[in-house]
Amino acid sequence: MGRLAGKVAIIAGAAFGIGRATATIMAREGARVIVADYDADTAGIAAEAIRQSGGDAHAVHFDATSEESVRELIARAKARYGRIDIMHNNVGGTEPGKDVNVVELDLAAWDRILKLTLHSALYGCRHVIPVMLEGGGGAIVNTASMSGVIGDAGLTAYGAAKAGVISLTRYVATQYGRRNIRCNAVAPGLIITERANEVVAPPVQKIFEEHNLVPRNGRPEDIGHVVAFLASEEAAFITGQTITVDGGAFTHGPTLVDMMKLGLRI
Ligand SMILES: NC(=O)c1ccc[n+]([C@@H]2O[C@H](COP(=O)([O-])OP(=O)(O)OC[C@H]3O[C@@H](n4cnc5c(N)ncnc54)[C@H](O)[C@@H]3O)[C@@H](O)[C@H]2O)c1
Repeated sequence: MGRLAGKVAIIAGAAFGIGRATATIMAREGARVIVADYDADTAGIAAEAIRQSGGDAHAVHFDATSEESVRELIARAKARYGRIDIMHNNVGGTEPGKDVNVVELDLAAWDRILKLTLHSALYGCRHVIPVMLEGGGGAIVNTASMSGVIGDAGLTAYGAAKAGVISLTRYVATQYGRRNIRCNAVAPGLIITERANEVVAPPVQKIFEEHNLVPRNGRPEDIGHVVAFLASEEAAFITGQTITVDGGAFTHGPTLVDMMKLGLRI
């Protein structure tokens, strides 16, 4: 029997990349999965692929930036299955060229990026928590990012929003843990998804590969496995945490790669 047998899981932002991998893994572990996404056609294809492999999946269109739409997504899931055990708030992103340094960033883009990345997670949490409480508890996993932990030359809005996701995770864990709701986050380093390929040029992907301690870049499944674990009973005593999944890129001192170029062997 799978680790998530009988659980009902909403994966918000599941048509592509990390969310799609998470939905696929959770379905393999026995969850009944709602593949929720803005891109209804691709979400439908993802759900069909899961069903073809023997899983239980249902695609739902929603817009993570609209509280009303998130409320409806959760109400539809509750109406269909009677309960929700797992919520993965995975929608987020940036606007390259507009999300630059603090002085020059586009303020309208700041608002949109916060809405897409931070408000979306808040909406997911605040509407799923009452349903989870009715069902006796649940597990929420938010997708953060290492951009929410470090500083960078650009991506100011994205980094601030992801830092907010990490903080929101701790507040939800604190406020609802006694009532059996756990809330954790996963902080990916670079994960090669369709979207990452659009916004991260190959030479930059190569830089990440050099800084990783494992000899490759990340794959969507690397995150999906951790999200499925955090959502499972195996993680019953873990809450409020942000788990870094970055191949070790942010583990070592900043001089390591340059020292290796000078001949240091590891
Ligand atoms: N890929 C990486 O390197 C990386 C690193 C750190 C964090 N992340 C985070 O992981 C998450 C997934 O990233 P990904 O690389 O798989 O990219 P992605 O952009 O392909 O994934 C986001 C998903 O959300 C959907 N989506 C976008 N806007 C939406 C909206 N308004 N309403 C509903 N759905 C919407 C997209 O269609 C897509 O399926 C994001 O939160 C991203 O910030 C990614």
